Amino acid sequence: MSKRINFPDNFLWGTATSSYQIEGDINNSDWSDKFPAGKASNHYNLYENDFDLIKELNQNAYRLSVEWSRIEPEKGEFNQKEIDYYRKMFLALKKRNIKIMVTLNHFTHPSWFSDEKGWVNPESSIYFTLFSEKMMKEYGDLVDFWVTVNEPLIYSLKSFLTGNWPPFKKSFFSFKKVINNQIIAHKKIFKIFHEIKNDVKVGIAKNNHFFEPYKKNNVFDKFSCFVIDYFWNKYFLNKIRNELDFIGLNYYFHSKIKFPCILKKSSKIVSDLGWEIFPEGIYYILLGLKKYNLPIYITENGLADKNDTHRKDFIKNHLFFIYNAIKDGVDVKGYFHWSLIDNFEWDKGFDPRFGLIEVDYTNFNRKIRPSAYYYAEISRDNYIINE
Ligand code: BGC
Repeated sequence: MSKRINFPDNFLWGTATSSYQIEGDINNSDWSDKFPAGKASNHYNLYENDFDLIKELNQNAYRLSVEWSRIEPEKGEFNQKEIDYYRKMFLALKKRNIKIMVTLNHFTHPSWFSDEKGWVNPESSIYFTLFSEKMMKEYGDLVDFWVTVNEPLIYSLKSFLTGNWPPFKKSFFSFKKVINNQIIAHKKIFKIFHEIKNDVKVGIAKNNHFFEPYKKNNVFDKFSCFVIDYFWNKYFLNKIRNELDFIGLNYYFHSKIKFPCILKKSSKIVSDLGWEIFPEGIYYILLGLKKYNLPIYITENGLADKNDTHRKDFIKNHLFFIYNAIKDGVDVKGYFHWSLIDNFEWDKGFDPRFGLIEVDYTNFNRKIRPSAYYYAEISRDNYIINE
């Protein structure tokens, strides 16, 4: 029997992107000479058109990031043209009545910052705080939610421990320093933003991973799972729990942990990137976040699915489990699907297609995928039908 599942009033239905992945053409960032994105999805020039699509698809919220290297291309020197550009962009969203969530740092940095050792430098939190404060002063009247750092653990892992992303370091020592400096930066920004505007909303976008012991009753597997879960999912949040107005959750992954720390991935249904699709994981992650007693926004959740084969079910099933978490007392206030449009997927380039809207990279034409219409109905009605 099919059942209508209502979401809370004023629920935010949106999508998320990041500047480098959709804007491209940034010459002085730490990514541009290593993994150039060209024009990416050419959103820099087509943002009005893309915001019309957000509106057409009934979304009432949008998460984007400001590109630090555009705005502060040299240390302490701000580019007024780019500052005005983002203001125009925010005004274009406001005009369409779309709530704005801005990420201050989504993986990329100005070259001057990375030349000074990036986040390993003890001064890094000062540099980032100064930039953030400028953003607050410029856009505080327009932005509804601020996210300081996107996925601090993913970034520090890939850039400083496994060495896949700029600056390609492989050092546990640096990895720890980066995490620590991002914690310091987050706390400073939270304080300063609240001094400037006391009802401001500041959060983090935290990638939490659903871990399970490989054998449910094996004490060794359970122990490893506990330790890994603590470090990956809780450590950072525990450190900043008093400096959060909301938690942003990015949910993509599920793994089974076999002692000492082997990640066993199951591969029943996978995305184009081979990532397992495991909707119920989001329920357990959300229950785990309940103890922080804060509003939660799903700041990212999505999949690479060029042919749009799984996206509709993916959305429906994740929303079903989010609803169950709400029913069990978790204060989830919004869902931002990753992503609005196809974009540059970091070291994997343009092949993975995460967009509700397809981008033809030869001419930047947009084409709405069928799943986007499904999500548009949900965004309009504020419910899903569970068959
Ligand atoms: C990141 C995005 C990325 C997405 C898909 C998240 O980890 O915040 O930038 O495109 O996952 O991999």
